[in-house]
Amino acid sequence: ELNLNTEFIGKDVKVYESIDSTNKQAKRLAVEDATEGTVVIAEEQTEGKGRRGKSWSSPPKQGLWMTIILKPKIHPSKASMVTLLAGLSVVQAINDCSQNKAQIKWPNDTVINEKKVSGILTEMSSELDLVNYIVVGIGVNVNTQTFDDAIKDTATSLYIEEGKSYERAVIAQKILKKFEQNYILFLKEKNLKLVLDTYEKNCINLSRQVKIIHHNEVEYGKAIGISEEGHLIVLDENGTEKLLNSGEVSIRGI
Ligand code: BTN
Repeated sequence: ELNLNTEFIGKDVKVYESIDSTNKQAKRLAVEDATEGTVVIAEEQTEGKGRRGKSWSSPPKQGLWMTIILKPKIHPSKASMVTLLAGLSVVQAINDCSQNKAQIKWPNDTVINEKKVSGILTEMSSELDLVNYIVVGIGVNVNTQTFDDAIKDTATSLYIEEGKSYERAVIAQKILKKFEQNYILFLKEKNLKLVLDTYEKNCINLSRQVKIIHHNEVEYGKAIGISEEGHLIVLDENGTEKLLNSGEVSIRGI
């Protein structure tokens, strides 16, 4: 049912009616012998996972819950770029079919009207200097109409912002196509700059003030760019340049 016009991303698609988490399933398949580009999709996740140990609500049919298995021959330090590429691909895919403008909130959330419509959880297994596999889990709130109280002020869906229902398969197809294009550019290192430029153009944080939360300490800065390893480059209050690592800090104040 997925009409993909891709080279290797999504050549093999595993669809489940209900599963604990597509990331968990992807990791199980990755250590078996799933090939690069295998995609895991579920109608429903019973233990959907978000970043920072949070859960991710994944009721049946309301969203796209999907994980891509990758096996790039790269150094683990380059892996966070893959997550950024996935975020960019989601934004590009949504902008292809929405009236409202979708933007990336660094590192990889997608926001529409400053509310979150999609999140990404990337998990990696690596040896000292080589990646074994990366699973990129993408959650898009597609047809969700209401959210739990805890997130209702910050979360949204395509349905809520655009006022119409979407075919989840069409969204999946667009994301996978974009992701493949971006991933191929990324693997040919000389094109990395091009992808980074596109990312920066689509990023809501650039030139804006960000509130940086690191181990409960709060700081302010101005986002000025993205490094080649996917850090957010900010100028702190003293005008000193700092590289923020997505694993360590969370930012607010878009
Ligand atoms: C976040 O913003 O906190 C990340 C959310 C990631 C959710 C997706 S849904 C598909 C995949 N499977 C999971 O368990 N999580 C990711």
